[in-house]
Amino acid sequence: DAPRPGDTPHSRVSPSPQVCWLAPEQTAGKQKPYMYTQGQAVLNRSFFPCFDTPSVKCTYSATVEVPEGFTAVMSATSWEKQKDNTFIFKMSQPIPSYLIALAVGDIVSADVGPRSRVWAEPCLIEAAKKEYDGVIEEFLAVGEKLFGPYVWGRYDILFMPPSFPFGGMENPCLTFVTPCLLAGDRSLVDVIIHEISHSWFGNLVTNATWGEFWLNEGFTMYAQRRISTEVYGLAYTCLEAATGRALLRQHMDNTGEDHPLNKLRVVIEPGFSLFLGVNPDDTYNETPYEKGYCFVSYLAHLVGDQSKFDAFLQAYVNRFKFQSITADDALGFFLEYFPELKEKGVDSIPGFEFDRWLNTPGWPPYLPDLSPGEQLMKPADELAELWAANSLNMEAIEAMDITAWRTYQLVYFLDRVLQKSPLPEGNVERLSRMYPKISKAQNAELRLRWCQIILKNNLEAEYSKVKDFLHSQGKQKYTLPLYRAMWGGSESARALAMETFSATAPQLHINVQNYVKKILGLE
Ligand code: BES
Ligand code: ZN
Repeated sequence: DAPRPGDTPHSRVSPSPQVCWLAPEQTAGKQKPYMYTQGQAVLNRSFFPCFDTPSVKCTYSATVEVPEGFTAVMSATSWEKQKDNTFIFKMSQPIPSYLIALAVGDIVSADVGPRSRVWAEPCLIEAAKKEYDGVIEEFLAVGEKLFGPYVWGRYDILFMPPSFPFGGMENPCLTFVTPCLLAGDRSLVDVIIHEISHSWFGNLVTNATWGEFWLNEGFTMYAQRRISTEVYGLAYTCLEAATGRALLRQHMDNTGEDHPLNKLRVVIEPGFSLFLGVNPDDTYNETPYEKGYCFVSYLAHLVGDQSKFDAFLQAYVNRFKFQSITADDALGFFLEYFPELKEKGVDSIPGFEFDRWLNTPGWPPYLPDLSPGEQLMKPADELAELWAANSLNMEAIEAMDITAWRTYQLVYFLDRVLQKSPLPEGNVERLSRMYPKISKAQNAELRLRWCQIILKNNLEAEYSKVKDFLHSQGKQKYTLPLYRAMWGGSESARALAMETFSATAPQLHINVQNYVKKILGLE
């Protein structure tokens, strides 16, 4: 619109698809439009003029006017509604630009804890409250015990429309999450624990550049699994970590271990050469998460004592809170904190050099021991083995009762089946009939795996499940693997990909659209 007095040439941004405007059909309630922003990594430059780098932090305030019947929420420490549909927000702690977030829609809230509420469209609010009522506070309390004070005041959760591209986004005070988390049984709560963990790792201590994104995500994965261990125990947490390791394996198999993205420290475009640099959005893959987790676990292993390492993490947060740092800062502090390790030269043990961790692509040189999860993984391993046999031993299969298995045990089992796929002729059909709990699952993590198995075994009779799943949500980590599998599959799988994409493209986040186009060779 027209310039206003006081505008400078850079005080406004032009309309762009990076600010998401949804039509009523793209919401859960299908009655009213919705808008939201997703800043990470470098999209907030199209939302407001800013230094769009994680190395700069500032406080902010915002005045947002919405039409009658809409509510605005932001990643802010305080907010108030005025009579005239105007909302005033203030973030009193310094944060990087990517953590400023806004959503406007027909949304309501319900309390789920002393400093937490859920926000959702009215038709989802009951389910949202039921999913997390009474559990959030324990995660926050354990986080504070391990990592120090929670400085953000409230911790609220906003359930987004189905096309939200992430499982969760750690916008301070107000995590944005996919509605896929509404599984009815809290089985996907690890995403919430992950986003809560960012309250210390990422939001307080921030990676200074997107080339060291692992500092945010690797430390957060470690913190997430520490909280999970305290709350759910070591066995379950190791099982969850094993599914993460399987994702890292799949990712490295897809991209090749030596791919430049498979280093913890990557060169961001334009770098010293446009052809070597990467787009910061491309760093959203399993390497910073799971290889980063392995590196932090390796640091803990060097220390050799969990409580000493926990104390280090707390000191690290305290030392660098409200700052943006590099890996060298973090590792320098580690060696300073443990002078006896520095003395021993732990940063240059052959094969495990810190420099190698950071700058050499490939499989992590150290893997944390996940054997405490064996009791949960072993039956799943054995069952997958049975289903991969040429002639099925139905007696042995029927003897294994999966009705009491946790979701992540089923996920682990399905990842094993996928790894062994294609299975001998007829086995997957049989498996599908035997376990409706899997083949008819509503849980998004199970649906993803089942769809991957359908495609890897080219089970055309079940293609509609792939289509339905891709129509029902637009999370990047669900969408891209399925398009990759379709495009790498049969003629009919490719046709399914094209048909599904042309129907769903307008609903997908612009980044996800562009990634799918790349997979389908449409760019
Ligand atoms: N900060 C990320 C999401 C993100 C990463 C947005 C890169 C944009 C660019 C968030 O904390 C995250 O990691 N979400 C995961 C959760 C999972 C690891 C439990 C997700 O969405 O899958
Ligand atoms: Zn994260």
